[in-house]
Amino acid sequence: MEAVTSWANFCDGCHDRGPSRGQLRYNRPHGVRASVCSCGRFPVALSPKGILMHNVLITGSNRGIGLALAKAYLERGDRVFAACRTPERATDLQALDAEHSGRLVLVPLEVGELDSIRQAVELIKTHTDTVDILINNAGMNTSQEDQTLEYIDFTTMIGIFRINSFAPLMMAQQCLTLLRRSQQPKVINLSSEMGSIAATDYGGWYAYCGSKAALNMISKLLANDLGRYNIIVAPVDPGWVQTDMGGDDATLPPEESAAGIVALVEGMTSADSGKFWMWDGGQHEW
Ligand SMILES: NC(=O)c1ccc[n+]([C@@H]2O[C@H](COP(=O)([O-])OP(=O)(O)OC[C@H]3O[C@@H](n4cnc5c(N)ncnc54)[C@H](OP(=O)(O)O)[C@@H]3O)[C@@H](O)[C@H]2O)c1
Repeated sequence: MEAVTSWANFCDGCHDRGPSRGQLRYNRPHGVRASVCSCGRFPVALSPKGILMHNVLITGSNRGIGLALAKAYLERGDRVFAACRTPERATDLQALDAEHSGRLVLVPLEVGELDSIRQAVELIKTHTDTVDILINNAGMNTSQEDQTLEYIDFTTMIGIFRINSFAPLMMAQQCLTLLRRSQQPKVINLSSEMGSIAATDYGGWYAYCGSKAALNMISKLLANDLGRYNIIVAPVDPGWVQTDMGGDDATLPPEESAAGIVALVEGMTSADSGKFWMWDGGQHEW
């Protein structure tokens, strides 16, 4: 047994009381590096880098910002549940799997289908009983022309709202049991400046902007509901990012946006829940 004095590794209760009250015990059953705070309340897994290892679930992680987030969390030493529609075709994720063996789990997930979400959660439960960070990243858009007043229709509106607004809510609902077992659970919903009503001085884009504004409201409601379980919930704008969705004129490489989001999420406390964040730590008006 080995005493550790790192402030960051105490459970929340002992952290509040100060480092002298809580000392970490290391036990290594079957060679697994794990620790438990001496108050006995929270077992804590440690990453290969010796930091607290988070279980991070990321939707739409096979490309774009989701893939960059998966890479960033793996680099940090966390375990990533990389959800995507077709893992068998997710070659970038498969390559990451080879590089970070044992810390990447590919999870088939179509976020617009409740059955698929439930199956994904069941698969995750075969690996862990805890999700520390749920990142609802999967999102969609269609052409600007499709979303003009002239051409917008029910199909486009409902299709985009289903993935961008409703799916993150259903993900949070279905992951609640896993999240509640975490010491510092967080639900991060990838929103957009285009979801800020205050920042909107243009027309069109009814489905995409409307869906992200709805996601912001859903995030606020979730933050209020889940505060009782100490679950932090926040919508985060990733910036204008060079992905299939963001296009070639976008200003930010996905790696830079992802690094900002990882740092932002790491530092979030309960006081930050229910606020509309930017990737670089700034805040948007609703
Ligand atoms: N890029 C930007 O500038 C920007 C700006 C503001 C906000 N955002 C938001 O950031 C998030 C990621 O954007 P991105 O730029 O990385 O987009 P992207 O390059 O278009 O990638 C979207 C990802 O979402 C997945 N996805 C879409 N529909 C899905 C569904 N029904 N079920 C499961 N996965 C689904 C895609 O999977 P497939 O590969 O299977 O299609 C893909 O992995 C989105 O929520 C987006 O709205 C992006």
